[in-house]
Formats: sequence, C-alpha cells, structure tokens
Amino acid sequence: MKGILKIISLSLLFVSCKKDPEIINPATIGSENSYEPVVPAGWPNPVYDFTGNTVTYDGFTLGRYLFYEPMLSLDSTISCGSCHMQVFGFTNGPSHATSHGVNGLLGKRNSPALFNLTWHTKIMWDGGVNNLENQPIGPIQNPIEMNLSLSNALLRIAASSKYKTLFKNAYGDTVVTSQRFLKSFAQFMGLMVSYNSKYDKVKNGKETFTAAENNGYTVFKNKCASCHNEPLFSDYSFRNNGLPINSYQDSGRYKITLDANDIFRFKTPSLRNLGFTSPYMHDGRFSSLTQVLNHYETGVSPTINLDPLLSGGIALSPQEKSDLLSFLATLNDYSLFNDSRFKEIH
Ligand code: HEC
Ligand code: HEC
Repeated sequence: MKGILKIISLSLLFVSCKKDPEIINPATIGSENSYEPVVPAGWPNPVYDFTGNTVTYDGFTLGRYLFYEPMLSLDSTISCGSCHMQVFGFTNGPSHATSHGVNGLLGKRNSPALFNLTWHTKIMWDGGVNNLENQPIGPIQNPIEMNLSLSNALLRIAASSKYKTLFKNAYGDTVVTSQRFLKSFAQFMGLMVSYNSKYDKVKNGKETFTAAENNGYTVFKNKCASCHNEPLFSDYSFRNNGLPINSYQDSGRYKITLDANDIFRFKTPSLRNLGFTSPYMHDGRFSSLTQVLNHYETGVSPTINLDPLLSGGIALSPQEKSDLLSFLATLNDYSLFNDSRFKEIH
C-alpha cells in the first residue's frame, strides 16, 4: 500500500516536473518522502527529541488522520485542522482574530502557527503546557474548542474500524491508549519543520538577498533580534511587548505561574512565515505587518512588566520599515504549507 502510494506520488511529481520545472524544488521532494525528524544544519537541538517516540510512516499517518478528525469534537464539526489550516501556516486564517470552536463559540486567543514546535521550551501563548505530547488534551477538552472528554474521544476512536486499522499499522495491534493517541499527534506535528525559506537558502549559499532585503536584515539584527533571534526567529521566552490592554484583559503567563512578574507576558512568536499567518499577536489584534511595525514605533504602552528593551519603543524610519518588510518576506516558507505529507485527510 505504502509502496504503491510512493510510486503514484513519484510519478505525479515526474508529470508535474515535465510541465513546470521551475516550481519543483529538489530539497522539497526529498523532504516530502521522508518521515525522519529534521534538524537543519546550524540549529540548536530540539527540546522535544522523539526519544521514546520513534517516528514511523504509520505513526505519523495515524497522527495525520487524528489531526483532521472532527469526531474529536462534541458535535463532530471541528477538528484540529479547522483552527490550524495548512494554507494559513496552520493558523485559523485572516478572518479569525481569535479562534472559533464548537457551537460558533469564540476564544480569546489567536490560534498560533504550527511549525518548529519541537524547539519550543513551553507550549501555548502562556506556556501552560510543558510537553508537545500532552498538548492535544487541552483543545479536545476545552468547552469552547472541541468540548469532549479525553476518555470519550478515545472511546469514539476505538469504536471506529478505520482507526482499528490505523492503530494496528502504527502499533501492531488495535488497542487505543491515550499514550499511543498522543504520541501519534506529536509525530505528525513534530515533523512540521520550517527551514526552506529564501533566508535559509541565502544562509546555505544557494540564493542572495536583494539590496532592500539585506538592509532589512541589518535593521532586524539591530532592532528585533534580541527577542526574535535566529535561526528560529524567537527565543520562545515570555515577555511583554507593550500591547495596550484591551477588553480581554488577558494576563498571559501569570495565569499559569501566578507570579506578578509574569502579568502580561506572552511567548515570543517566531517571525518565520508571517506572510501566511495574519492576524498577529496573542489576540490577533493586528491584521497587517505595517500595523505591527507602527506598534513597535509609536504604540508601545508602559504596562506592568513591559520589557525594558522596549521602553520608549523602537525608532524606525519609513525606509527602515520598508526594508524590514522586504527582509521579513524572505522568512516565508512556501514548501511546508504545500507539503503533501500534511494535507487534510479523512
Ligand atoms: C477552536 C480552535 C482550535 C482547535 C479546534 C484547536 N486549536 Fe490548537 N490552538 C488554538 C488556540 C486559540 C491556541 C492558543 C491557545 C493558548 O495559547 O492559550 C492553540 C494552540 C495550539 C498549539 C500550541 C502552539 C504554540 O505555539 O505554543 C498546538 C501545538 C495546537 N494548538 C495544536 C492543536 C491540536 C493538536 C488540536 C486538536 C486536538 C488543536 N490544536 C485544536 C485553537 C484551536
Ligand atoms: C522585547 C522583545 C521583543 C522585541 C525587541 C521585538 N519583539 Fe516582536 N514580539 C515580542 C513578543 C513577546 C510578542 C508576542 C506578544 C503578544 O502577542 O502578546 C511579539 C510579537 C511579534 C509579532 C507577531 C507575530 C505573530 O505570529 O503573531 C511580530 C510580527 C513581531 N513581534 C515583530 C517584531 C519586529 C519586526 C521587531 C523589531 C522591529 C520586534 N518584533 C521586536 C517580543 C519582541
């Protein structure tokens, strides 16, 4: 079965190669056929390293079916993929500032992009989850997301003949345990590694920056890199970047630690793939990158625990802003969000 699928996909690639050789990048073809976790050259070691959860084609494929499985929500209308859509960098897309769960209920936070998750020291905007493997329990049980108890979710899966086959393929028998269930999710999400942007190709000596991109890179290094550092474009630390308080009054990391020093701190997001993932910030308050830059220039609000690096804002001339936008566009990875391994499946 797997062999046949590979032959089919290879011949499809061959056909499309003949039609349009420019759009097929050989690096992408290699990665699309691989189920090995990738650590790109020069990157730090991941935090979640798959020890005790070896990725296999069948384990990953089970995770892929589960990720797109609406049965995991109370009324079988919402899957993980409803709020994390591949075309939008695995976010909820531009029309949802905050996420949209069962019965049309709205959350208070923007659904974050999913990529390079194995490098996050903590998961969620407030770091409320310590381990990638435990993460799916949150949205499945959350009343305004999927609203189903984990035990009921596992019962539904165990009753399905499709999942009997998928579990047998992945684990040798049809027994559905929470551990197997969660490990498969981690295999699927952990392979979403974004490292094929123009920036990466420039770093590997395969492409060069334009003058504007190069100037923008300098602005980035001087004004943004202390928090959004290379190569992941985040240190994943929790900080307050001075967003004015709005009606959600979300206290961020404080909700988890109850330490007053954490009020209004949120996990620093990566600057990779911003071209796919609008709107921006933990509550999706900005719909464009120009609004984000205007925030850093003139909108930083001196709320409690404002990061000292941002007191007074960040001076940015119109030329610097324009160059910075050119540089940020080089961080968009067109291969991951077209990668057939992650496409919706039922
Ligand atoms: C109703 C929309 C919705 C659904 C359904 C949903 N998510 Fe999310 N997801 C979100 C939001 C919103 C957040 C941010 C929540 C927070 O930080 O408090 C999030 C956060 C995450 C994160 C953390 C990313 C990071 O940068 O820390 C992962 C991983 C994730 N979701 C995976 C899943 C999986 C797996 C499922 C299915 C089991 C799922 N999501 C279902 C909206 C959703
Ligand atoms: C002091 C640390 C710090 C500095 C310096 C900083 N940022 Fe941020 N940035 C953050 C934090 C923290 C967030 C998340 C805030 C939130 O949502 O509450 C963030 C969010 C963002 C986002 C939203 C991304 C998303 O996925 O929603 C963008 C875009 C961004 N920053 C760009 C920049 C740029 C460009 C610069 C330089 C001009 C910069 N930042 C400087 C800490 C910083």
